[in-house]
Amino acid sequence: MSKIVNGFSKLTKLEKIDWLISTYFNADTKVKQVLLQYWNSNPLLQDLHDDFIENTISNYYLPFGIAPNFVINGKDYTIPMAIEESSVVAAASLVAKFWSTRGGFKANVISTVKIGQVHFMFEGDKNELQKYFTSKKENLFKVTEAITENMKKRGGGILNIELRDKTADLDNYYQLHVTFETADSMGANFINSCLEAIAQEFQKEDIQIVMSILSNYVPECLVHAEVSCKVEELYAENSELFAQKFIQAVQIANAEPHRAVTHNKGIMNGIDAVVIATGNDFRAIEAGAHAYAAKSGRYKSLTNASIENGIFKFWIEIPLALGTVGGLTKLHPLSKLSLKLLENPSAKELMQIIAVAGLAQNFAALRALTTTGIQKGHMKMHLTNIIKQLGASDEEKAYLIDYFEHKTITHNAVVEAYNNLVGDK
Ligand code: MEV
Repeated sequence: MSKIVNGFSKLTKLEKIDWLISTYFNADTKVKQVLLQYWNSNPLLQDLHDDFIENTISNYYLPFGIAPNFVINGKDYTIPMAIEESSVVAAASLVAKFWSTRGGFKANVISTVKIGQVHFMFEGDKNELQKYFTSKKENLFKVTEAITENMKKRGGGILNIELRDKTADLDNYYQLHVTFETADSMGANFINSCLEAIAQEFQKEDIQIVMSILSNYVPECLVHAEVSCKVEELYAENSELFAQKFIQAVQIANAEPHRAVTHNKGIMNGIDAVVIATGNDFRAIEAGAHAYAAKSGRYKSLTNASIENGIFKFWIEIPLALGTVGGLTKLHPLSKLSLKLLENPSAKELMQIIAVAGLAQNFAALRALTTTGIQKGHMKMHLTNIIKQLGASDEEKAYLIDYFEHKTITHNAVVEAYNNLVGDK
C-alpha cells in the first residue's frame, strides 16, 4: 500500500492520527492512546500548541527543572532548564552552590551585533557595482523605515550596509552585508524583512539576487562569563593536582577536535536547556556556537582556564543571539514563566545567564572527568531510572541503592537484584 497522502494538512487532528495508525501501525488503537494521553486537558492550551507547527498530532514533553543557587554578578538566580539528560540539572545545581561560596559567576556582554546578508551574482564591472551601491545606499536604509520604526524606538535598527566582494570564493558572487541591533528580540523576522526590502530596492537587470537571510554566525553578539578562586579553595583533596588536571583537560580540548566536540557538547547541555526553557531557538544557538568554536580554522574549546599567582580562573566566550521578547518567549506559558522566574531579564542579561549555565555544566563535567570519572554520577541516575521502571517501592529502592553502592550497575544486574529481592519476599 502506498504511503503517499494528498491534502494531509487539511485533515482534522483525529483524522491525521487515524491515517497514521492505519498506514503505519496496523490499526493498533494503543498507538492512539499513547498520542492522546499527551493531549492537554485544557483545550485552549492544546490549541495554542497545535498552532505552533503544522500537522500537530500530540505534544512531546521534556522535563522542566530548576537549578537554584546561581549567583551572577552578585544577583541570585534560579535557572529554568528543559532537558531530558538525567545529570544536567543536578550538575548545574551542585556547581551553582559550589561557586556561590566562592564569589559567584561574573559575566559581561561584549557586543550585540547581528548579521544578515543579501547574496547576489553580478558579472559586470566591479567599479560600476561599487558606484551603483554608493548611489543606492541611502535608499536601502529608506525602504526599511516602516519595518525599523518600532525597533528604533527600542534602541535597535540597521547599523550598517556594506557591499562585499566575494568573487575570490565564488565567481561573480557579492553580498550586501548588513549589521543590526535588535534590542531585546532575537530579531530573525525583523532582520529577514529588512533584507528582503533591501534586496528588492537593490536589484536590477544585471544583479541577480539569489537569497536574503540572516546569518546564525554572530561572532559579534558575544558574551563572556567566568569564575575564579584561590587554587586551594578549588578542591577538598590535593587542590593543586586537581587544578592542574582541570587545566590540562581544557588544553586537550583546545588541541584535539574529537575531544573539543564532546567538551563543547557538555557546555551545550547547559546552554540548550535554558535556551529551550526560555523559548529561544536552540538550533540557531548550536550552529552559531560551533561555528565560533572553529573560527581559528581548527575546532576548539569554547571555555578556557588558567592559573596565575595562585588564582584559578575558568571562563567561556560564546556568541548567543537571544530574545526575551517576540517569537515563542511570551507565547509559550512555560517560556513566559521561565522568564518571570529569571525576573524578566533583558536579552543582554539572558545572554549572561545562559553563558553561565554553559560554563557551570562544563565545570561539572571536567571536575567529574578528572577525578571520579563521569560514570559514577551517570550510573547513579541510571540506577534510579531502572528502579523506577521496575515499579519498586520506596523500601525496595533504598535497598537497591545501598546494594549497588560499590557494584557495577547494568540493566540486567539491577533487574536480577530486584527479582531476587522480590522473590525473597
Ligand atoms: C555528556 O552529555 C557530556 C559530557 O560528555 C561532556 C564532556 O565530556 O565534557 C560529560
